[in-house]
Amino acid sequence: MNATIKLEHFPVLLNELVSIISPLYGGTFIDCTFGDGGYSDKILQNVSNKVLAIDRDKSVKAKAEKFLYKYKQRFKFYNIKFSQINKISNKDLKGVIFDLGYSLKQISDLNRGISFKSKGKLDMRMGINNYSCDKVVTNMSQKNLYKIFKFFGEEKYSKLISKKIIDVRKKKKISTEELVKIIESIKTKKNRRNNSTKIFQALRIFVNKEISELIIGLISAYNLLPVGGIIAVVTFHSIEDKIVKFFFKEYSEIKNNSRYLPKNILNKKYFLLNKKKPIVPTTEEINKNPPSRSAKLRYAIKLNNDCDFSEFKKKFNYLLDIENLQFDD
Ligand SMILES: C[S@@+](CC[C@H](N)C(=O)[O-])C[C@H]1O[C@@H](n2cnc3c(N)ncnc32)[C@H](O)[C@@H]1O
Repeated sequence: MNATIKLEHFPVLLNELVSIISPLYGGTFIDCTFGDGGYSDKILQNVSNKVLAIDRDKSVKAKAEKFLYKYKQRFKFYNIKFSQINKISNKDLKGVIFDLGYSLKQISDLNRGISFKSKGKLDMRMGINNYSCDKVVTNMSQKNLYKIFKFFGEEKYSKLISKKIIDVRKKKKISTEELVKIIESIKTKKNRRNNSTKIFQALRIFVNKEISELIIGLISAYNLLPVGGIIAVVTFHSIEDKIVKFFFKEYSEIKNNSRYLPKNILNKKYFLLNKKKPIVPTTEEINKNPPSRSAKLRYAIKLNNDCDFSEFKKKFNYLLDIENLQFDD
């Protein structure tokens, strides 16, 4: 079986990202989502830059090898997750960038079961996971599947779909094709977007623990950066964007000027936010690369050290709770 669809990779919002992080001035950048190396390559075009590249997917190692050969000591690759970037130390750090979600290569590899066009076993693992999607669909309770679909997919038919999964799995193994069939038996109206998008998104987020990865990744990026360093994030769906927007906005505003209130209530700005609205792709970019249509780029510059992010974690605890659901809950 030919298990890949041939698609051309275009790094999303590349010029916008590069103009924001100013690699022209030289420095070290952490590219938390190396993927096909589009961002790293552009940054490394300036010979005074270095890139520390991260990716949880070990299949990108081959590309990383090519970068090592081409850029020598200016490039380093770590097969780790965002939640592990606090291990990296660098004195000359200028910026940390995230281009969230899946790469085109991952989606078009139909053996990985990420796309609803895949065939066979449900997988969805990006790399360094505890279990695959198959285990979730086979073993998770109906109540938990419902919560995953509702909160991570914002799917209106979460209850009906989760119930149908329980019925079908009593009789047979649920493959990718079977899951699509189940969804389509409930969502009978032909939508503009594919009927399966939301459920697949929900399962991907759950399997890869994307919410905790993002929350820990953002906090670690802040902790690693010196004052003046920049964090830039490209998001692809509303849950990710809500988290990134809150993170930058909440800590770029002074909440408490009073000497009489406890110190842990914000009385400093921790980020400089030049632009409240996200940067989005131009029509030209969307026409050339349709998956870029949902991309949003947000960025902020670190202004002060020692920010306490408990408010941030508290705000998204309800999502972290869903991500932590266990098979026997
Ligand atoms: C959208 S692609 C990045 C594309 C890249 N900017 C380029 O220009 O080629 C996202 C990449 O991030 C990786 N990734 C996603 N979540 C991650 C995480 N929590 N930790 C490490 N890598 C992650 C994926 O494996 C994927 O290769």
